[in-house]
Amino acid sequence: MIVAIDGPSGAGKSSVSVEVARELGFACLDTGAMYRSVAWQAVHDGIALDDAQRLGEIARTYEIAFAHEPGNPKPVGVSIGGVDVTQAIRTAEIDRAVSPVSAEPSVREALVAQQQRIGRSGDYVVEGRDIGTVVFPEAPVKVFLTASNEARAQRRVLQNEQRGVGSTDFEEVLADIIRRDEYDSSRAASPLRPADDAVHIDSSDMTIEEVIAQICDLVRERS
Ligand code: DC
Repeated sequence: MIVAIDGPSGAGKSSVSVEVARELGFACLDTGAMYRSVAWQAVHDGIALDDAQRLGEIARTYEIAFAHEPGNPKPVGVSIGGVDVTQAIRTAEIDRAVSPVSAEPSVREALVAQQQRIGRSGDYVVEGRDIGTVVFPEAPVKVFLTASNEARAQRRVLQNEQRGVGSTDFEEVLADIIRRDEYDSSRAASPLRPADDAVHIDSSDMTIEEVIAQICDLVRERS
């Protein structure tokens, strides 16, 4: 079974997905990490971020792999072409590079096919931007998770502090979130938008436990 969780960056998708997966005994698939891995490879190889052909080649040829630990729904690492990029894909440089890379249709086509293959292999909570609309339109539970710009920036700063990577400057993070939302929502290929049958949850004034409980209730109702 697939639980699709879409929404803008910083809405809490990652933390919520892991805990929902833990509670339900599912695994997690972070599709943003896959777009970030392709962006990292492009930057590493010195490829122009508007070189559609080379970006598509990277997405089609390099293997993206998640490292799993028994009993932990959250992968402990991600690699592309055998290189561990778990930390490297969370830098401000990759935050900027990932928008043009993820707007490229040939990149999306290759990664969506991989995501569908992974998701069909078991029970997954899948988080991203187009999971309910494009990747798994048949998912029985689709959530569109949002929060105010300020709440999202505040959470991203805390997350970056905890990870020890990425910007911890509130204004810089806020500006990046707004810029990425605009880019992700206005791009031609699979723009960020809720599926018609998605349940909207605004997490600005909710605790993470409340969001998790609401999603788990939805899954139990529909399974
Ligand atoms: O969730 P995230 O911030 O790690 O995602 C990184 C970027 O990848 C984000 O700018 C949007 C893009 N993305 C996407 O276009 N489609 C997805 N399914 C997941 C992420």
